Amino acid sequence: MKKYKRTLVTSALPYANGPLHVGHVAGAYLPADIYVRYCRLKKREVVYICGSDENGVPIMLRARAEGVGPQKIVDRYHTMIKDSFEKLGVIFDYYGRTSSKVHRETSREFFRELDAKKQFITKSDEQLYDPEAQLFLADRFVFGECPNCGYDHAYGDQCEKCGSSLSPDDLINPKSSITNATPIKKKTTHWYLPLKKIQPKLETWINSHQDWRPNVLGQVKSWLDAGLHDRAVTRDLPWGVSVPEEIAGKAEVDASGKVLYVWFDAPIGYISATKEWSQQQGDPERWKKYWQDEDTRLIHFIGKDNIVFHCLIFPAMLMQHGDYVLPENVPANEFLNLEGQKLSTSRNYAVWLHEYLEKFDPDSLRYALASNMPETKDADFSWAEFQARHNNELADILGNFVNRTFTFIHKYFDGKLPAIGQLDALDEELINRISQSADKIGAAIDAFQFKEATRLFMDLARFANKYFNDKAPWKSRKEDITACATALHLCAKMTYALGILMQPILPFTARKIQQLLKIDENSMQDWDNASTFFLQPGHQFNQPEIIFAKIEDEKIQAEIDRLNAATSADDPEIEDAPEAPIAIDDFAKVNLRIADVVAAEPMKGAKKLLKLQVQIGNEKRQVIAGIAHHYEAEELVGKQVVVVANLKPAKLRGEMSEGMILAAVDNDGNLSLVSPEKAMPTGTTVR
Ligand code: MF3
Ligand code: ZN
Repeated sequence: MKKYKRTLVTSALPYANGPLHVGHVAGAYLPADIYVRYCRLKKREVVYICGSDENGVPIMLRARAEGVGPQKIVDRYHTMIKDSFEKLGVIFDYYGRTSSKVHRETSREFFRELDAKKQFITKSDEQLYDPEAQLFLADRFVFGECPNCGYDHAYGDQCEKCGSSLSPDDLINPKSSITNATPIKKKTTHWYLPLKKIQPKLETWINSHQDWRPNVLGQVKSWLDAGLHDRAVTRDLPWGVSVPEEIAGKAEVDASGKVLYVWFDAPIGYISATKEWSQQQGDPERWKKYWQDEDTRLIHFIGKDNIVFHCLIFPAMLMQHGDYVLPENVPANEFLNLEGQKLSTSRNYAVWLHEYLEKFDPDSLRYALASNMPETKDADFSWAEFQARHNNELADILGNFVNRTFTFIHKYFDGKLPAIGQLDALDEELINRISQSADKIGAAIDAFQFKEATRLFMDLARFANKYFNDKAPWKSRKEDITACATALHLCAKMTYALGILMQPILPFTARKIQQLLKIDENSMQDWDNASTFFLQPGHQFNQPEIIFAKIEDEKIQAEIDRLNAATSADDPEIEDAPEAPIAIDDFAKVNLRIADVVAAEPMKGAKKLLKLQVQIGNEKRQVIAGIAHHYEAEELVGKQVVVVANLKPAKLRGEMSEGMILAAVDNDGNLSLVSPEKAMPTGTTVR
């Protein structure tokens, strides 16, 4: 492998159009943060860059859905996302935003350079246009039926059901996401990146990276096999980085109102954020070392939906520009599901990072996600597994070992490091295990195998815990005090090593270990010296505190209940569903009926759910409703409610639910069932 002088790590710039959830964390941020922390401990020169993606249609759609301007949206979510990263311990050298001046200038400069090098072609053609909103309909502004799989809510850039990449023209029966209007065609001119022409060069480059993850190479190969299409890199939109005027003028097209395509400017955001970082460092030219010197190893951490942009389109831009390094690796992760289902932001079926952080410790999530990272295939996050990882591994193994070690040292040796005596075979094994583990964990991280690294780390802690048991210092203390002292000395040494080796995964816990050991931060910052325990016998430790308190079942159940309440729909996922007005016939599709509740009982194992039998006309149905915290089963019997009678039946906790009961729910979770104001015959239509 080539030796590099420095490493530049990036994580995908999150859209500032909503909060982060655990899927984002597992995909692009936690692995990068682990990697960077490890590089620092290895004393490598590394810079970690990220920022908010604040342009493009996703931002505009959110703004329209909330009835506010896009600036409001990006300001709100930029702040929120940045704050969540900090609390999770994902620490960037610089977290920028693509609305900054430096970014606008850098992107325009990049565009100018490609234009000057004749790397674009311009094409005029007829494109979809919404006459009501007076907007061209690119990307997610238009939806319709997917020509490949028939899914009825495919977007103008991609079908999220079958994953195929689309252009607005491919959609069958296109509709505007903004007004629901049927688009007309209008002529416009755009700049295209001629990917067809660049393809051979990209292929040669990709072929020199056969060491990339198979899932990444697989996706890239299938794009290449299908043949790349020239890609428009400008848009007619009122929000984004505007196309440089002099170029627009030269091309003899009216470029007023034209902006760069968000996937053109966003990855340039990595460069502009590095520039801003250099300025902040008081060395404004420093970014060039990271972007323009061949001795830099550039690594993009992303989720799998970003592969084509980071492995083909952005590299094509960088190649054609000519002044920049290309990524050395793009360790993209697959998706994270939640309790066996796809995450859905629109249905609020997600574990939101900011909410998680209000209730639990950051390291517990870091550990659970690192243990189960979607590296080679999709993975599943479940609250039960989260709890088990925390309670059975962090608390019972790691926490227990550290706690017992220091409780004993305080009890029997006044909290001072005991001296070491003669070593037996098991003691030798402990010493060897530390240096072997440091190497093995390091090799796994270097190979982007974070799951394996986490497993190896916990194995070491497991060994330590067993060592403590086997040494039984509570016995040797009476029979052989030197052996007891030796064992506890080695346990302290092990704690120190664990404190270093845990840092990439458990940075907050590492801080606690450092405080417990009563040493300064700098003396725990050298991976290669994890097995060099420098403390002298007699060194005074601090009193141990419980590092991981057990997480109670109730706390976990509350999270599961919250998710259950959000899962009643079993529609395929529609990310960031645009909230377009619906036509009256759309409303007419919902069959709302008055129903009598004839029986109700609690559901075993699901504190939030009630099982109801309802009478709708002459039909009897079973409905599972998430209302147990608001109503007693008995008080419901005899009540009239409104039921969605034509909802696809779904199984909830093993029971069929054949309808949905309407209720008003406020932001604090207060809930009130909707009933007819006067009693009505059962089965009466509600409209
Ligand atoms: N905002 C995009 C997303 O969330 C990622 C942009 S990555 C960048 O999918 F490279 F363009 F910055
Ligand atoms: Zn499709």
